[in-house]
Parts: sequence; C-alpha cells; structure tokens
Amino acid sequence: MDHFQIHAPTQIIFGKNTENEAGKWCKYYGAHKVLVHFGGHSAKKSGLLDRVCASLKDAGLEYVLLGGVVPNPQLSMVKKGVELCREENVDFILAVGGGSVIDSAKGIGYGLANPGDVWDYYAKKKEITACAPLGAVLTIAAAGSEMSNCSVITNEDGMLKRGLSTDYGYCKFAIMNPELTYTLPAYQTASGCTDIMVHTLERYFTAPATHQLALIDGIAETLLRNVMRYAKIALKEPDNYDARAEIMWSGTLSHNETTGDRTFGDWSCHQLEHELSSMFGVAHGAGLAAVWGSWARYVYKENVGRFAQLATNVFHIPYNFRNPEATALEGIAAMESFFHHIGMPTSIHELIGKDLTEDEIKELAYKCSFMNTRTIGQFKVLTIGDMENIYRAAK
Ligand code: NZQ
Ligand code: ZN
Repeated sequence: MDHFQIHAPTQIIFGKNTENEAGKWCKYYGAHKVLVHFGGHSAKKSGLLDRVCASLKDAGLEYVLLGGVVPNPQLSMVKKGVELCREENVDFILAVGGGSVIDSAKGIGYGLANPGDVWDYYAKKKEITACAPLGAVLTIAAAGSEMSNCSVITNEDGMLKRGLSTDYGYCKFAIMNPELTYTLPAYQTASGCTDIMVHTLERYFTAPATHQLALIDGIAETLLRNVMRYAKIALKEPDNYDARAEIMWSGTLSHNETTGDRTFGDWSCHQLEHELSSMFGVAHGAGLAAVWGSWARYVYKENVGRFAQLATNVFHIPYNFRNPEATALEGIAAMESFFHHIGMPTSIHELIGKDLTEDEIKELAYKCSFMNTRTIGQFKVLTIGDMENIYRAAK
C-alpha cells in the first residue's frame, strides 16, 4: 500500500450517558429543527428516544419524529423523510439506531441537498454534491456507518440494494454509549460482530500485488482477535460494559479506514451478501458469515501466504512451511468454526432454512454483477460465472 487516503471527519462522543448530550451536539453543528429518525421498537422500548428528545428540548431545539426504518432500509422511507423534512423546514437529521437507521438518515440528507430522484444517485446516474448535516446515536455495533462515508439502501422496485459512498456522507458526530447495546438480541450481537470482522477482512485481502503496511496488518489482526474474544463474553454477559465497549469501538475502527483504505479492499463478500439480504431480508452480518468460507476457498490460491498469515496471526495456527496451503485452509476452517460458535450460519442453507435453487443462484449473480455489466473483487476478480460458483458452493 504505497498510496492511501483517509478522511475521518466525524466527532466521536463515547461513553456512559452520552445520549443525553445529543441536543448539545446538534446545536453545536448548527441545528434549529431536527428530524429524529429511528427504527422499529427498540429505541422506544428502552426509553432512549425519550432521553434523546429531552436533550433536544433542553438545548432549545425543535424536532419532529420519523420512526419505522426496517433492517436493510428502504427507498420509500428515505423519500418519506425527504418530504417531511421539506414540509417541516428541518435542517438537521439525527439517526437513533443502527446501520439501517443511519443509512436511511444519510439517504434523506442526500435527498434534501440534491435535486431530483434520490435513487438516481444510488444508481450512479448522477453525482452527489452535498448532504444535509447528520448526527447519530448508535445502538448496535455492526455496520460502522456512524463513521463511514457509505449508505446502503434497497429500492423495493426490483429489490435492488445499492451502496453510495461519498465524501459528503459522514455524520458530523456520533454518540456511542456501549450500554445502549445491552438490549441487543444474541443473534444481532453475533451478526454485528461478524460484520465488524468482515469489514477488516475485506481490507486485509487486497489485490495480491499490493503491499500492505505491517502496521495496518497488525492493527487488523489485533482487531479481529479482539472482536472474537469480546463477542464470546458479550454473548454470555450482555451487560458487560467492557466487552460492549471493546466491540463498539472495534466496529467503528473497522470501517473508518484504520484497518486499511477501502479502495484497496476486496469487498466481494459484501457485494455477494447485499443480494442475499435484499432477496431474503436476512441480517447483513449473518449473510456475510454464510458466504465468507465459500468465497475464501474459491479464491485462496491467488495468495496462499496471505491466508496462511491470517491463520497464524489471528488463530495461532502453526505455519506449515512444507505445506502453507494446509495452514491457509486451517485458518478458513477456524474462522467458520468461530462463526458457528457465536451462532452464525456458514452456509446459505443455514441462513435461510433451505437450499438455493438454480434459478435463485442465477438471479443473485445477475443482480450482483449489475445485470452482467461488472466484475467484483480485487484479491481475485470475479465474473458473473464466479459469483454463481460461490453462491452454489455456499448454498
Ligand atoms: O428497528 P429496531 O427495533 O431498532 O431493531 C433493530 C433491528 O431489528 C435491532 N436493534 C438495534 N439496536 C438495538 C436493537 N435491538 C435491541 N436493542 C438495541 N440497542 O437490531 C436490528 C438490526 O438493526 P440494523 O440497524 O439493521 O443493524 P446493522 O447496524 O447491522 O445495519 C445493517 C444495515 O447496514 C448496512 C447493511 O447492508 C444493512 O442494510 N451496511 C451499512 C454500511 C455502511 N453504511 O457503512 C456498511 C455495512 O457493510 C453494511 O452494508
Ligand atoms: Zn458490512
């Protein structure tokens, strides 16, 4: 990696009770009237929403509420938010939730600040030139959207899930209180931890000729070991503050370019998974766990040494100098065994409760290849045929 860029403009406010500062920070970043955007039930049920609204009032800010964001957030909600913000003269959007709520808030921010149909920007027909100011109160450690430049939205018309990454798509601030994640169901905790790990793994598996800085490799490997260690603790003790804090900060660092510049990463598993969560409505991290092993076995021969390094440095598997391939494969098996240990699927059958049909495999690959107009991946460049093979191997 001889050239890279990092842009991380989000202010982080981390620690217990920090959600009570939401109003203060909205005001600091210029808000007069705030859209408080949230998901299904969790933020209401835990009392978080009331605490956030009280802090907005204390700061002298007006606000309107818009809840109902679903996991794998949808375009119709983004459009509803844009309309509401226009009607109500909202000038700041505050996401209270996880990746889905934050991504929906980013979509609304784009829709407010750019002309025409907001989907045209996700479909790469037009270029984003601005975004309304955003903040986040994070409730699940997973997607890393609180400090990433990315928003992923599903267009219900055709169920197309598309990511949009721009320099405008950063939150001004993110409030991160690990206590807010105590109420997560075990499956969401595990799915979030998987997503965090895969954000680092996608960057770890760059194009074979890329030289990765040893420092970045070290940070990446430490992060992976750290998440595995604390995921097991958080699953046993959901209200263990230290475990939740370790996971939460790992989630942010995993996707804010600290473990590698995203332009050098592979990202195939994310592209393959986005089609699964859009077709079957599954949790994103669980979808990643279901395809990662099949992807890894399909591509590892491109750079056996890199997979062997993962095995040795993350799983402490002794390096077999006579047969590095065996070490690489042991590492892949160890990763899958960890996913199983935390209750994640390692096949699509385990993910959705049935085998994929041949028609479904073809449809997934067709959509993932943007109707056969693109390849994906850098570690190994994958054609539509390769995508089909990986879905088939994972089915
Ligand atoms: O809707 P509520 O009731 O809040 O329930 C949510 C949802 O059902 C629940 N939850 C969240 N916080 C909770 C809680 N339940 C109890 N207690 C809490 N404290 O968890 C469920 C999942 O929430 P969601 O926001 O969907 O999770 P996540 O953060 O994993 O976000 C997934 C979305 O992010 C996208 C994914 O594709 C997916 O659409 N991604 C976004 C990225 C980005 N913007 O940088 C990168 C990622 O790779 C990813 O693609
Ligand atoms: Zn992800």
